[in-house]
Amino acid sequence: MSIEINNLTVELCADKHNANCINVADSLFLTVDEGEVVSIVGESGSGKSFLGLSILRLNPLRISKITSGEIKIKCKSQKTEIDILKLNPDELIGARGRLVSMIFQDPNTSLNPVMKIGEQITEAIIAHKKVSKKEAKDTAVSYLNSMNIDGKSRFGSYPYELSGGMRQRVMIAMAMVLEPCFLIADEPTTALDVTTSLQVLKLIEDIREKSNIGVIFITHDLTVARSISDRTYVFYAGQVMESGNTGDLINNPAHPYTISLIKSVPSLSADYVPKQKLFTIPGFLTKDDFSKGKCRFYSRCFKRGEECLKDIPLSSFTGGGKSGRDVRCVKVKNF
Ligand SMILES: Nc1ncnc2c1ncn2[C@@H]1O[C@H](COP(=O)(O)OP(=O)(O)OP(=O)(O)O)[C@@H](O)[C@H]1O
Ligand code: SF4
Ligand SMILES: [Mg+2]
Repeated sequence: MSIEINNLTVELCADKHNANCINVADSLFLTVDEGEVVSIVGESGSGKSFLGLSILRLNPLRISKITSGEIKIKCKSQKTEIDILKLNPDELIGARGRLVSMIFQDPNTSLNPVMKIGEQITEAIIAHKKVSKKEAKDTAVSYLNSMNIDGKSRFGSYPYELSGGMRQRVMIAMAMVLEPCFLIADEPTTALDVTTSLQVLKLIEDIREKSNIGVIFITHDLTVARSISDRTYVFYAGQVMESGNTGDLINNPAHPYTISLIKSVPSLSADYVPKQKLFTIPGFLTKDDFSKGKCRFYSRCFKRGEECLKDIPLSSFTGGGKSGRDVRCVKVKNF
């Protein structure tokens, strides 16, 4: 059981005449195995949500298109092996939710505000499975229960009657109810307080253990990535800058962007001194960072030089950690 993304490029254009286009995902390779949690980490605007949406071909068609690549999904329990990019519209609707489910970044806009939460889950079940309304309702109640929400009494609640954390858990119930092989969780804990955030992370961890599904966990928070994922892809301006085993990558980062990101998180930084001025990466991510002909991190990199003014390939290293490491930087020769 696996997701294998090969050479995926997604173009995003500022207007419908295909002008001002950038590659919001650029020649991307990514794998997720059965039972594995893989994090995609990067700062706001780097293209993480676009990547998640593109895996299900939910990227907004008005402004973006997938121009190359393969998204191969193998799911043993459903005896299915497909390339998402080759499915026709009917096959695609069947695959969404059943093969790969997504917890969207914003539960406030992803749930229908004028429909009871129990009915929203029941509707998803009936759309994909041949079951009676009663069976679908019972399943919805039991999934709400498994998310620590009293299914019976909350079945008839509208989203506005729930707290943010409860809405997030309803989204997880909805994503899991079709028993998919893979889950894409887009910043599922960002808007939550620490306690609720830990509960949601624990739920995702429990689901992975119980169902052995593969999870793509999108986050801007390296500490969350460290607590939940086996491997991490560090993403900047539509490209993978570095990837490898999460623990190794955080303890021994190679790419200047990963090094800077870790330095910006006081609790992860090895040289953190209490009350010292906090480190921030200079500048911010701009549209120009997505352009070709230079390293995409060039304008903010503490190590940049003339040799960085060209497209930089991803290089693979095998030593130094439990698993291999891929790094996109001309100055990294080993790690
Ligand atoms: N609907 C849209 N129209 C135009 N540009 C968009 C749209 N949605 C996203 N973008 C642009 O695409 C790029 C990637 O956005 P995306 O939402 O994937 O970022 P992200 O990494 O998920 O950020 P965040 O951490 O803030 O959620 C950004 O530069 C953003 O400006
Ligand atoms: S290629 Fe150059 S600009 Fe890019 S991360 Fe490496 S040193 Fe920095
Ligand atoms: Mg996002």
